[in-house]
Amino acid sequence: MCGIMGYVGPQEAAPIIMDGLKRLEYRGYDSAGVAVSNGTIDVRKAEGKIAGLVALLDEKPLEGTVGIGHTRWATHGVPSDLNAHPHTDPTGDFVVVHNGIIENFQTLREELEAGGSVFTSQTDTEILAHLVAQEYDGDLAAAVRKAVERAEGAYALVVMTKREPRKIVAVRKISPLVVGLGDGETFLASDIPAVLHHTRDFLIIEDDELVTITEEGATVETITGDPVDRDVLHVDWDPGQAEKGGFEHFMLKEIHEQPTVITETLGGRLDEDGTAWLEDVEFDDDFARGLDTVWITACGTAYHAGLVGREIFQRVLRLPTIVEYAHEMRYSDPMVKEGDLTIAISQSGETADTLAAARLAAERGTRMLALTNVVGSTLSRYADDVLYTRAGPEISVASTKAYIAMLIGQYLLALRLGVARGSIDRDRATEISHGLNHLPAQVEEILENDEAIVEAAQAIVDADDIYFLGRGLDYAVAMEGSLKLKEISYLHSEAMPAGELKHGTLALITEGVPVIVVVTQRATYDKTISAVQEVKARGGKVVAVAYDTDTEIEKFAEIVLRIPETDDLLAPVNAVVPLQLLAYHVARLRGHDIDQPRNLAKSVTVE
Ligand code: M6R
Repeated sequence: MCGIMGYVGPQEAAPIIMDGLKRLEYRGYDSAGVAVSNGTIDVRKAEGKIAGLVALLDEKPLEGTVGIGHTRWATHGVPSDLNAHPHTDPTGDFVVVHNGIIENFQTLREELEAGGSVFTSQTDTEILAHLVAQEYDGDLAAAVRKAVERAEGAYALVVMTKREPRKIVAVRKISPLVVGLGDGETFLASDIPAVLHHTRDFLIIEDDELVTITEEGATVETITGDPVDRDVLHVDWDPGQAEKGGFEHFMLKEIHEQPTVITETLGGRLDEDGTAWLEDVEFDDDFARGLDTVWITACGTAYHAGLVGREIFQRVLRLPTIVEYAHEMRYSDPMVKEGDLTIAISQSGETADTLAAARLAAERGTRMLALTNVVGSTLSRYADDVLYTRAGPEISVASTKAYIAMLIGQYLLALRLGVARGSIDRDRATEISHGLNHLPAQVEEILENDEAIVEAAQAIVDADDIYFLGRGLDYAVAMEGSLKLKEISYLHSEAMPAGELKHGTLALITEGVPVIVVVTQRATYDKTISAVQEVKARGGKVVAVAYDTDTEIEKFAEIVLRIPETDDLLAPVNAVVPLQLLAYHVARLRGHDIDQPRNLAKSVTVE
């Protein structure tokens, strides 16, 4: 998730672009760059936060009134000056910035290299500059159209050329893009907040649309060249609201980003038949076949993602899978060994305990795979293999979209290993692949229907203690739901396997005590319902998370949070969403600082 800016008008472009990039820095911040057109095209770029680029521009200023800029959150290629955008074609006449992922970039790169192209970066974006230049025949919009015809994946692509110096062309598929309409000047950006202090009138560019901006305004067309008559959106948000995309909190914004995060994390990595292509996962099929034990180590929400992973790997690989809190594993003299795979999961890739546990596992000869959201993070640097989730920067301390991306990463890994080992057949791999591809739309459906979740929040907001139950995968989700609730609502909550209730905790269930039960797994449905009945018999208030096809559950639960039915193996992705929203609404009703809960930090880099 990167940030994009563009400007055409009477003013110097570089300061306007830099100001916009600073406002977009929350979208990604490993490097940044700007290009300005002024007879020639001049580019400045620097690794690190925007401050590095500011210093470079002080030293080597740019002059010109047309320009584009970018702040990067790496997906292909480490953060570096060379990999920073903008990227140019070999002549330097064409320059591009891009947000998104070009899924067939390897194939395109090989084709271009076979034709003599030489690339200077490791990015998927640079090929787009080459493609546009190759397709150019006097009309930039036509060249961009032809270039993206060859590209698969997600993109907001912005292109400038010195051959048509007073215009910028941009095209969108999945990744966001807006046009700001000023008086004699026009802006392009990933997000409204970047240009809100220049204008309040916007055109929202939709998927498969192309826009050409000049100082006179913008022309929107479909990717096939049909004119689009887009209404102007007048925005009266305050700047703080705007940074959150109109949402009241980053947490809510990030919850709503989850359909896109799933799409992006899967992007280009999964064939219909369940074959997974994981670019930085380098073990071969022999390693997969010889695998003895899978270890997963992590903390907090990442550990809960690992609990889901344990079930996935055991079911798909039929191998023992051990999940350990990193702070426990590092002191427990674990019997991890050569021939094992240790998966260290961490959104930040900087959690001190997770780094220590991963290092210990690696020292004992295991292969170490980092499942992380941050390209170039410490964890990714000492892993043998890396699987990057593509959640984009997560601002809210309470992790939501990063968790969903960790689940998707583990499904992909399970398919990679399971197909190689032959522990699942092609039909099952195909089923899982289809199920995964349906998840973005299903999560969207949950987000659009949150009335029951608000009702449940009102029902539990004054409780002293709240219990979460589930079995197997549902238990793993219950653990995450409970953590989410306690960290932002400050209510005491506890999750346990449904079968454990009667071994002690049942003594705490009295009239009106809320019990939230996740009940998606068909194989254990009746068993979980038995625990629910034990709760009901003591007057507990049952809230259930269940499939929309479950016709029985209303007999047992006072409130049902419905989720679309899916393959049981994939149910955690849908089931966690109502629990994230429940935590959010309870915390909001209680008036808490949702994005920065007391006593907690986003990244725990101390032991
Ligand atoms: O960056 P990491 O994924 O390694 O962070 C691990 C935990 O600190 C983190 O998940 C924490 O539990 C979150 N605040 C949960 O919302």
